[in-house]
Amino acid sequence: MPQIKKQQHSTSPVEKRLSWLCWSWEQMQLSLTKKISVPDCSSDSIHPILRQTFSLTSKRLPTIAQIKSHIYTDRQWIEAGDFDRKKQLLTMMVRESYVGQSYVLLTDEFIRSLQLLCNDFTSIVEIGAGIGWLGHWLCKYGIRVQASIDNKTWPDFPPDRYLDIVQQMDSLDYLRLHPEVELFILAWPEEDDLASRIWQALRPGQHLLYIGEDRNGCTANNVFFELIHGHEVGNNATKETKQSFLSFDDFHDQPHLYQKG
Ligand SMILES: C[S@@+](CC[C@H](N)C(=O)[O-])C[C@H]1O[C@@H](n2cnc3c(N)ncnc32)[C@H](O)[C@@H]1O
Repeated sequence: MPQIKKQQHSTSPVEKRLSWLCWSWEQMQLSLTKKISVPDCSSDSIHPILRQTFSLTSKRLPTIAQIKSHIYTDRQWIEAGDFDRKKQLLTMMVRESYVGQSYVLLTDEFIRSLQLLCNDFTSIVEIGAGIGWLGHWLCKYGIRVQASIDNKTWPDFPPDRYLDIVQQMDSLDYLRLHPEVELFILAWPEEDDLASRIWQALRPGQHLLYIGEDRNGCTANNVFFELIHGHEVGNNATKETKQSFLSFDDFHDQPHLYQKG
């Protein structure tokens, strides 16, 4: 039974983008047929964005400007009337590789904005942390993360890819055992009831930094959005995190800080 349940949930964010991926594949085929040079993203020549982000020895993340110079983000090319087919293909290929490591697009500016936000909290834990790159980078930028928790069930993450900082545990079990945690970070939860159960399990005063899409998007479920309604925290730090956040082209994730009343 749990196997079947997982199967249904595991693909849901991906399913939402299935048509997008099919389109991407068709475009690639088309480009190859027409002998347009397709940017190489194979393992022998990993794209600089991926190489810099997913390296334990890298000192800094790519900046927003560096990322934008390579790939499209936030559909801005539409407004700018600037369409470059090679860049569009590269954008899709980079995202495909990227989500094998992290669903959040990690930039220097975003992690620096989190330095300010995290200043207010002495105990921070990431749950549903995946491979653990967000926690890794927070630590690199001087933000102490008490733990990175994941139950390691996501089928797209091979077992040997998880960073050492990731502890295999159920998020809710961790949450129930650690009332001292002031801030939980939850990025790209599946569309199942995990995010809403996490919110319900939080104690009054605890905070949740949710990074994901809004209602009817491809993260969390609508119960979660009903529960968090009216609980968003707005201040200079949260404003800064939103302004410095970059989404992949055609995705609409954003950071939101909520406090349990
Ligand atoms: C879509 S992935 C996002 C991973 C990561 N936050 C990111 O942004 O790359 C969802 C993650 O939640 C984890 N997960 C799902 N249910 C969980 C649970 N009950 N406890 C801990 N982790 C869980 C999965 O193993 C997977 O790594």
